[in-house]
Amino acid sequence: MVDLEAISGLPIKLDDAGLLVFGMDVVVDEHGERLFDALTPVALDPDACRGNQSVAYYMDNGVYLREDASRLADVPMRYELTLVPPGRLGREMIKTHGHRHCPEPRSGLDYVEICEVLTGTAHFLMQTLELDGPDAPMVFLLEANPGDKIILPPGLDHCTINPGAEPLLFSDVIARGVSGIYDRFTETRGAAYLEVSDNGEPHFIPNPSYRNVAPMEVLRAEDYPELDLTRDRPLYTAFLDGLGERWAFLNDPRLFDASFPDLAALVAK
Ligand SMILES: [Fe+2]
Repeated sequence: MVDLEAISGLPIKLDDAGLLVFGMDVVVDEHGERLFDALTPVALDPDACRGNQSVAYYMDNGVYLREDASRLADVPMRYELTLVPPGRLGREMIKTHGHRHCPEPRSGLDYVEICEVLTGTAHFLMQTLELDGPDAPMVFLLEANPGDKIILPPGLDHCTINPGAEPLLFSDVIARGVSGIYDRFTETRGAAYLEVSDNGEPHFIPNPSYRNVAPMEVLRAEDYPELDLTRDRPLYTAFLDGLGERWAFLNDPRLFDASFPDLAALVAK
C-alpha cells in the first residue's frame, strides 16, 4: 500500500496491485473506465488494442471528502482523479485517449484545466491541431513528477502518457460540466507525437498519420504562488481552502492570459 494522503490531501492509497483505494469518507460522484479497445483509433498499432476489453485507465470525477460536501456544493468546479497503470499499446507507451475541452459559451474559448501528478511520471503532450492535413503547428511536452502542477491552456488538444514502470496517478480541477471532444484525435489517429519503446528507453516519434508536425517544445512545470498552485501544496487542499476563488479562469477562459502570461506568450507565438 502506498499512502497518498500527504501528497494528495485526501485519504487515498494505492494498493499492492496499483489500484486506487478510497478512504471511507471520500465521495466519488462518477467512476469511469477506459478499455484498451477504446484506444484502438488513437494507437500506432491498432491491433494491439482492438477487442481488448481490459481496463487501460480509470477516471474518478467529482471526488471530495464527505465533510467538505456543503462547502463545495456551490463551487462551479470539480476535482478529478485519473489512474493510468503502467503498460503498453504494442510499441507505444500507455496513454490517455486525449481530447480538447468544449468551448465556454460566452467567449467561444475552450475551458482550461489544472492538473497535478500524485504518483509516477507523466508526459503531458499538448498541441494545436488543424484537422485538414492534419497539421500540428505547435507541440509542447511537459514531463511532470509528483507535486508538479500543470496548466492546460485553451486551444490545445492534449493527452497524457505514462512512460514509466509505476502507476501514474494525476488529479485535476476543471469547471463542472466541461465535456471532452474526443473525435478530433480519433480522426487524426492520436496526438502529433507517439512515445514508443523497442525494448530500450522510450522515445518520441512523429505520428505518421500527420502531414506536418512542429518540433516538440519541452516545458517545465512552474509554480504559481499567487494562484496557490505550488509543488508543496496538494491541489485538493488549495481547492478546498480557496474554494476556487483564485481560479476564475477555469470558468471564464478569457482570464487565462492575465493569469498565466508566461503560457499565454508561448501559445500566442
Ligand atoms: Fe483535459
